[in-house]
Amino acid sequence: MSAKVFVSRPIPEPGLESLKQAGLRVEVNPEDRVLTSEELVRFCRGKEGLLCLLTDAIDRAFLDQVPDLKSVATMSVGYNHIDLEAAAEKGIGVSNTPGVLTDATAELTWALLLAVARRIPEAARFLRGGEFTGWGPMLFLGTELYGKTLGIVGAGRIGTAVGLRAAAFGMKVIYSDPRRNRELEKRTRAEPAELDRLLAESDFASLHVPLTEETRGLIGRGELRRMKKSAFLINVSRGAVVDEEALAEALREQEIAGAGLDVYEKEPHVHPGLLTLKNVVLLPHIGSATVETRTRMAVMAGEDLAAMLAGRPPANPVPLPR
Ligand code: DGY
Repeated sequence: MSAKVFVSRPIPEPGLESLKQAGLRVEVNPEDRVLTSEELVRFCRGKEGLLCLLTDAIDRAFLDQVPDLKSVATMSVGYNHIDLEAAAEKGIGVSNTPGVLTDATAELTWALLLAVARRIPEAARFLRGGEFTGWGPMLFLGTELYGKTLGIVGAGRIGTAVGLRAAAFGMKVIYSDPRRNRELEKRTRAEPAELDRLLAESDFASLHVPLTEETRGLIGRGELRRMKKSAFLINVSRGAVVDEEALAEALREQEIAGAGLDVYEKEPHVHPGLLTLKNVVLLPHIGSATVETRTRMAVMAGEDLAAMLAGRPPANPVPLPR
């Protein structure tokens, strides 16, 4: 009898195809919305596999209620929504989708950075609001990138891809990461730096760390105060890496020049203090949202779920604690 799997939300069709071609019996959330934890349990009862998203809380309470579950494939590179300890205890395999979203996320980082530096959303609103009465020497003056310093916090795949694109804008790159990144150093002459130095020297500080106990609240009041008044903070990683309250205050008090955010501490909730500010560009967590990338993510998650259920190792296992 073939295994049953649940897909927690409609995903690109090729992802579902990879599950069906593996002979799995597939049920998909009929609605395009995040399920409540009770609904997720109900749908997952009796299923051996789950293809989930970063919006699903795969915590101990959930895993306790779905004893048939053997494998979880998350269609995301981040896996902070999964209790790995509980999964390991229960012998549940976990996979994620690294690599395939690197370029899309790096591109969005630059879109955000340029948008906030050149005040693009603000200027576009101005025009559509009928306020454009002609070119003006002081109209929407922004900040140039050329010759400025980009600080990359977390030089993994995405941080590296962001850094490699900095050469196109004539920027200097510095990075902070527990490990030396020789590729970034060689290709961009990037210098490693402690976080404090990076924050003090960067004109644009861009966050690319996973959310872990070490990185939660990494950028708080003290860190924001280290930044230049003319600097911008960009976050496409996870919202909880930044203390949103402290950021809203720093932006309001113009302790830093601006921010570009794609992620939030308590998504989909956005700190109300951010919503009213002009010097912040806010996007709805769309870092990997391209047709190409989401299709690759869906297929990768589907193939890995099928592999795990067939007793084979997935191509992208999430390391579980022992
Ligand atoms: C991920 O995959 O973790 C991203 O945040 C989603 O785009």
